[in-house]
Amino acid sequence: MMVLGKSFWLKGFDKPRYPIFQKGMGAGISLYELATAVGKEDGVGTISSVGLDQFTSKRIGEKLNQKDATKKEIEDTKKDGGIAAINIMVALRNHYRPSVEGAVEGGVNIIVSGAGLPKNLPGIVNEILDTNNHKINLMPKVSSVDVAKLITKLWEKKYGYIPNGFVLEGPLAGGHLAWKNEELSDPDFYKKNSLENLFYELKEFAQDIPIIPAGGIYTHEDAVRYLDAGAVAVGFATIFAPTKESSASKGFKDAYINSTEDDIIITTKNWGSPFGYPFRVIRSSPLVQEWESHPERWINKENPDSDERSYCICSNLLGTADIDKTKLLEKGKISKHCSEGYALRPDGTCPAFGNVNYNKLVTAGTNAVRVSEEVPVKQVMDALKGL
Ligand SMILES: Cc1cc2nc3c(=O)[nH]c(=O)nc-3n(C[C@H](O)[C@H](O)[C@H](O)COP(=O)(O)O)c2cc1C
Repeated sequence: MMVLGKSFWLKGFDKPRYPIFQKGMGAGISLYELATAVGKEDGVGTISSVGLDQFTSKRIGEKLNQKDATKKEIEDTKKDGGIAAINIMVALRNHYRPSVEGAVEGGVNIIVSGAGLPKNLPGIVNEILDTNNHKINLMPKVSSVDVAKLITKLWEKKYGYIPNGFVLEGPLAGGHLAWKNEELSDPDFYKKNSLENLFYELKEFAQDIPIIPAGGIYTHEDAVRYLDAGAVAVGFATIFAPTKESSASKGFKDAYINSTEDDIIITTKNWGSPFGYPFRVIRSSPLVQEWESHPERWINKENPDSDERSYCICSNLLGTADIDKTKLLEKGKISKHCSEGYALRPDGTCPAFGNVNYNKLVTAGTNAVRVSEEVPVKQVMDALKGL
């Protein structure tokens, strides 16, 4: 087995690193502890910006707003792990700008941004640093070459800025998926849109722009294949989600460890993510159990005749991270229509129709079935390096 070399070196890096990119996992899964552990093994770890105002505040025992919490999370990760990337989702409108500001002020090395088009990212960074000539790598997260082309055109025209890389995500990934349910339920779709095919297509367009592919990559051999094909690094989430240093709750890690192939499902339009995109989850999640046993609880009060149901993704993912405000909800202390204020439509309303509860919902990539125990990050990193 060929051992990986420290070939990953972008602008602003402290030193060359292994081309192993631990990807962002929200809410409350890839935080300081995980990203630092990956950094200490000379890989690159990504903080998820989701809910840092709650998670970082909890870690340090002081209430911080999103901007200051993001700054602190990045500073601490860089101090102890040497490097820090962050994933900031466009869909989290309220916190987008403060998250970018905190990350930039904290000295972040890479900003990955997707879940919507990160149209203004170079402009926001330029406003903060007063130059395009900075050391931060701005990388759109894309699932198609068309989106990569569109963002490149937009950034170049509006800001004179070319993406510093693309983070490419294929259809076997965890979290939201950028395709339609009809596509994902067709077995032929996966052949045509395999990560490998997407990678070669994107490579043709991107030429020298670095690409980090992810989604269903799980072993050293997988990584070598993509590196040989010209990837600058390879992205992993599912394999890191149940590690000792991951901030996922015990119930979350157990769901991975106990999962079988039939348990990894994609939410349908009838039980969909409020963003309207398919979401890959583990069936044993308490929220999925509730959907299956009590469908009547999920009627859309704004549109009772529709059979489409939507959950409050903020409360459910926070519940998975062991933040449960059910008691406050019962006392009417938080608004039914937007308990957290993270995921909003452009008009400022919550897309979840008020189905607020903190029942856990565990998301995972298809490879969650391969997880058999909770192991330290070092063990995962050694295996991926080929040691
Ligand atoms: C538990 C979990 C949480 C995730 N959360 C997010 C998220 O909040 N935002 C996002 O853009 N991607 C999210 N993802 C997607 C990952 O960043 C990554 O691109 C993908 O899962 C890689 O595929 P893999 O899990 O097969 O390694 C998540 C993935 C997992 C497994």
